[in-house]
Amino acid sequence: MSLLKVEGLSTHFISRDIDNRMRVAKALSGVSFALDTGRVLGIIGETGAGKSLTAQSICGLLKPPARIVGGRVTFDGQDLTAMSPEALNRLRGAQIALVVQNPRTSLDPLSRVGDQLVRIHQAHGRHSQAASRKRALEMLAAVGIPDPEGRAKAWPHELSGGMAQRVLIAMALMNGPRLLIADEPTTGLDVTVQAQILDLMRDLVQRFGMAMMIITHDLGVVAHYCDEVAVMFAGTIVESGPVRTIFGAPGHPYTQALIAATPERKRIGGGGAQIGGEPPDLYNLPSGCPVRLRCAHATEVCATTPPERAMAPGHMVRCHHAGALRDRTRGSVA
Ligand SMILES: Nc1ncnc2c1ncn2[C@@H]1O[C@H](COP(=O)(O)OP(=O)(O)OP(=O)(O)O)[C@@H](O)[C@H]1O
Ligand code: SF4
Ligand SMILES: [Mg+2]
Repeated sequence: MSLLKVEGLSTHFISRDIDNRMRVAKALSGVSFALDTGRVLGIIGETGAGKSLTAQSICGLLKPPARIVGGRVTFDGQDLTAMSPEALNRLRGAQIALVVQNPRTSLDPLSRVGDQLVRIHQAHGRHSQAASRKRALEMLAAVGIPDPEGRAKAWPHELSGGMAQRVLIAMALMNGPRLLIADEPTTGLDVTVQAQILDLMRDLVQRFGMAMMIITHDLGVVAHYCDEVAVMFAGTIVESGPVRTIFGAPGHPYTQALIAATPERKRIGGGGAQIGGEPPDLYNLPSGCPVRLRCAHATEVCATTPPERAMAPGHMVRCHHAGALRDRTRGSVA
């Protein structure tokens, strides 16, 4: 049984316009994937594709007007979508931990690093102060912070960007989570520090027997650190499967274009190489395949019928013409 199973997850933003007419932005439409302990899943896709919203939907961190309108998220056999906010809150921070971009805004500027770690430990279990302090020092050491005792007394503003990100990871680890979700955990850090942090996270997954989901724009990160990848477009997963398979012979035109257009370690979307065209309007998604207005291979069926097709066990591609397109690119993509 997979540790995390997401089945047909749909999240919409439901609001009313000035004339009180209902407006629905279909931000996630039928997102499905599974993640096992010890594995690292990368989620990629252009800006606005729904990567962060997927993480927030899993963690129960949606804010109105966003709402889960369909599907199920199962963690260790428990249905998170049916859980009370209180129960979900307990699970989050204990068994599921989220590491977000920008450690500066995620750390409390008015509290010493060690105190913040202790607080998180105490919030999720009955521990003595001494036990929580000991755990805090252990976790600072685990994330490679030199002189944990000294650093525990530091204020957040005294830390470099890389150190602050390590502290955030230590915080995420305090309660021994089984699933770590990292939303662009290294954006804004220089390349060397990025690689150190990602190496560390990958190592922690093995050492502590966790599963990890990394959200990124960086195909290089996926290639180097992930076992599996899910490619998102307009709130759906258009292709998913083992990294080697997908990078070796991508079956979806969007994945093919991403890989072809993206030199090693270059970002996609927001600032990097772009797949031509604008993201579709979530309030008015095109009929049939959501990619069709930007797809050079679109045919009549693409306009009328949403594609759903599994290529092979573990490799999913949503494209009517996936087989033919994959055969054409096989061997031509590094
Ligand atoms: N209040 C809202 N009402 C309607 N749509 C919204 C609202 N807030 C966010 N969205 C839409 O939800 C979609 C998913 O956003 P999300 O933050 O998950 O994107 P992302 O893939 O994480 O992008 P990025 O790479 O820029 O972080 C976006 O297209 C965004 O425009
Ligand atoms: S289903 Fe059609 S429009 Fe969609 S990606 Fe495949 S070829 Fe392109
Ligand atoms: Mg995001």
